Amino acid sequence: MISQINEAANFLQNTGIDQPEVGIILGTGLGKFIERIKIKKTILYKDIPHFPIATVEFHQGKLIYGTIGQKKVLVMQGRFHAYEGYTQQQVTFPIRVMKVLGIKHLLLSNAAGGINPEFKKGELILIDDHINLQNGNPLAGKNVDELGPRFPDMSAPYDKQLNAILINAAIENAVTLKKGVYVSVTGPNLETRAEYRFLRIIGADMVGMSTVPEVIVANHMKLSCAAISVITDECDPDHLKPVDISEIIEIAGKADKILSSIFTTAIEKI
Ligand code: HPA
Repeated sequence: MISQINEAANFLQNTGIDQPEVGIILGTGLGKFIERIKIKKTILYKDIPHFPIATVEFHQGKLIYGTIGQKKVLVMQGRFHAYEGYTQQQVTFPIRVMKVLGIKHLLLSNAAGGINPEFKKGELILIDDHINLQNGNPLAGKNVDELGPRFPDMSAPYDKQLNAILINAAIENAVTLKKGVYVSVTGPNLETRAEYRFLRIIGADMVGMSTVPEVIVANHMKLSCAAISVITDECDPDHLKPVDISEIIEIAGKADKILSSIFTTAIEKI
């Protein structure tokens, strides 16, 4: 695995990616942040050695390098999901590569279903903690000690300081960020009413199909991270309406501008 990570990182360094400080992952329907970047380089995932290829058509699958103010940033537009058939190691491979390239912090975003009845469509929620219900773990298998420890600590997977920066950035943009627990499922189907009830009982506030594998790997490598969910549908088991993915993308699109403002403000303060 190390040689593949280094090959991808070397390739990217040779294209001009030079010591980015902050990595950003943009979730489903969340692409406006790109407009805030002074772009220096755009590289398609399909051109990067050993990168999985994005298969979901609305994911553009691009790595974008540039600056926000003085900060060098590396943005993943589109991510890999277990439901596409990738292994947990493939899903998290880009995080390993970004770390080798130099990033010190990782900001993640995702579209999520709101399980907490107080969370409404279009709201932004800071992920305070998570529950991993995906089948598999990106750290399973022989541990690579150069990358991180066999049994990484998970007592605070989301960095306190980064969280505070995001909360303050939200206030500056006239938004109050609520906090919640994100549960990650494999998907690709949305949940049944009984599953939403179960997820609420076990302590989840929102549900999605991403983020947790990436955060596990970031913690393995001691990369500080913070994440925001955009609530795209309300998962009230007693009043559940059919949801389709185009609606999820549409709601994400409406929250996209404010998310990109929060990320932009935060990055300048990291
Ligand atoms: N369930 C799982 N993933 C999701 C949902 C949901 O309700 N909404 C957006 N991503």
